[in-house]
Amino acid sequence: MNPTQLIAKKRDAGELTAEEIAFLIDGHVHGRIPDYQMAAMLIAMFLQGLSDAETAALTDSMLRSGVTLTWPETCLPRVDKHSTGGIGDKVSLPLAPLLACCDVCVPMLSGRGLGPTGGTLDKLESIAGFRTNLSLDEIHRLTQEVGCVITGTTPELVPADRRLYALRDVTATVPSVPLITASIMSKKLAEGLNALVLDVKFGRGAFMKTRTIARELAARMVAVGQRMGVTTTAFLTDMNQPLGRMAGNAVEIAESLDCLRGGGPNDLRELVLEFGEEVLVSAKVADTRTAARARLLHELDSGRALERFERMVAAQGGRLDAPRPIAPAHDLCGDRAGIIEAIDTETLGWIIIDLGGGRRQLTDLIDHSVGLEMLVRIGDEIASGQPLVRVFAPPAKFDEVATRLRTAITIGDDSTETPLLIAERLG
Ligand code: URA
Repeated sequence: MNPTQLIAKKRDAGELTAEEIAFLIDGHVHGRIPDYQMAAMLIAMFLQGLSDAETAALTDSMLRSGVTLTWPETCLPRVDKHSTGGIGDKVSLPLAPLLACCDVCVPMLSGRGLGPTGGTLDKLESIAGFRTNLSLDEIHRLTQEVGCVITGTTPELVPADRRLYALRDVTATVPSVPLITASIMSKKLAEGLNALVLDVKFGRGAFMKTRTIARELAARMVAVGQRMGVTTTAFLTDMNQPLGRMAGNAVEIAESLDCLRGGGPNDLRELVLEFGEEVLVSAKVADTRTAARARLLHELDSGRALERFERMVAAQGGRLDAPRPIAPAHDLCGDRAGIIEAIDTETLGWIIIDLGGGRRQLTDLIDHSVGLEMLVRIGDEIASGQPLVRVFAPPAKFDEVATRLRTAITIGDDSTETPLLIAERLG
């Protein structure tokens, strides 16, 4: 096999075999295939697309480029949830400990925020001492002892993805459905899962702007998961307004704790319960969705899920009783009466970055104390001068973002339909 011939085959819309894909990935990870040839191959893949079989083969080769988590026979079923990211999306924080109370365990490998959507690891790092760099041994041990971990990936897991992603970033080949599928699924399947639920978000604050493209990505990921023996289902969920009220880091931890106490905003609670229900049925620890929901409600409302979160935080070095500073609050008020017609959720994400709560580049430092609290939702009727958003920021920063924030919220005169939180289920 010769890399140049394989690049030409893909360039001319040929279908690569699993062996050819394994040869390319293994050769690239071990330095036998140089970056310039792999970059050419990525461009050919981006332009010609990949079949389901090619996408599964790429996922499998990437997964095998490093170690994978293996679990003893006696271990409970492993489950996880992946979200493509959204503003205020904190579902993983209550969901992982909640599931850990329900006879499954959750070895959740998560990411940092880059661009307008926040990252679960950044949010957790607003808890003093919380470690997001657990070793493979720690992931293995704590998942079984505590029932869940939420941590970053390790150097040993899926090294091919780091190398390929760096090349995709500089060759403008990130927005390709099959390449995104292989990237996400190789990392999730390296966890040694029995069941996986995917939250593919669409809309103004999501990576996928339309429901059509979100459906395409979800269908690909479900097909790859199923082919690789992991019960995988997906939900398309709306991101045309923030999830919950809080968006930022420390403020999202506070809202997650509210959810774990049985309260919090309805949309957050609903997604936590829906994904929990789905994955408990997929992992065959509940016979019906009704039974799964009853179990989840019991664990959430009895305080056991909160207790599990506290155990996970302590096991990862965090001190929940240490202060989590939140910057001074300023209310931004509307200048007219009317109905909330639209929220430019992506702009809210960029505003959080400008306040210091997110990053444009991976090396940027995060101010965990800043954030936003949405005081209105699409379809709400408001009076003139009513507060729309509470901004947690130093006063000078609030002044800098106030005008942009006001234009991100459209107030109209006609009644507007509230977007459906869950648009579709696939699997
Ligand atoms: N997230 C990933 O992990 N990989 C991609 O390619 C895109 C988003």
